[in-house]
Amino acid sequence: MRNILYLSIVLLAVACTASKTTSSLPFEAADLANAKAKYPSATTETLVQGKALFENRCSACHGLPKPAKFERNTWNKIYSKMVLEAKLTTSEDELIQEYINGIILK
Ligand code: HEC
Repeated sequence: MRNILYLSIVLLAVACTASKTTSSLPFEAADLANAKAKYPSATTETLVQGKALFENRCSACHGLPKPAKFERNTWNKIYSKMVLEAKLTTSEDELIQEYINGIILK
């Protein structure tokens, strides 16, 4: 009986650690796969960077925008204006686009 109790506690601890690792990633595995299908060079790291850049740089003058609220063409036009507003470098622009088009707008 004690052994079973001990085993359950160990299993519970392992399960908690495992789910913590997965949920600390900001994306689901399926989203990552989608992003990689569109941007073969995308990695978890580039997507995490794109997310951080989007959240930091695109909320400096107004609330964080919701790209999915706009028609795709409208979004693209607004976004290209905002690249200039936010003075993004080419690589910052690419990382943000990868995150938005790969993860938010699937
Ligand atoms: C330096 C300030 C500034 C930064 C940084 C900035 N914006 Fe804006 N944004 C504005 C201003 C000003 C407007 C309203 C005028 C306009 O639409 O051109 C606006 C409007 C918007 C709108 C609403 C447009 C509409 O027609 O409803 C969206 C969406 C948007 N920005 C997205 C972004 C994104 C994405 C980024 C990051 C790449 C960003 N913004 C960074 C200044 C900024």
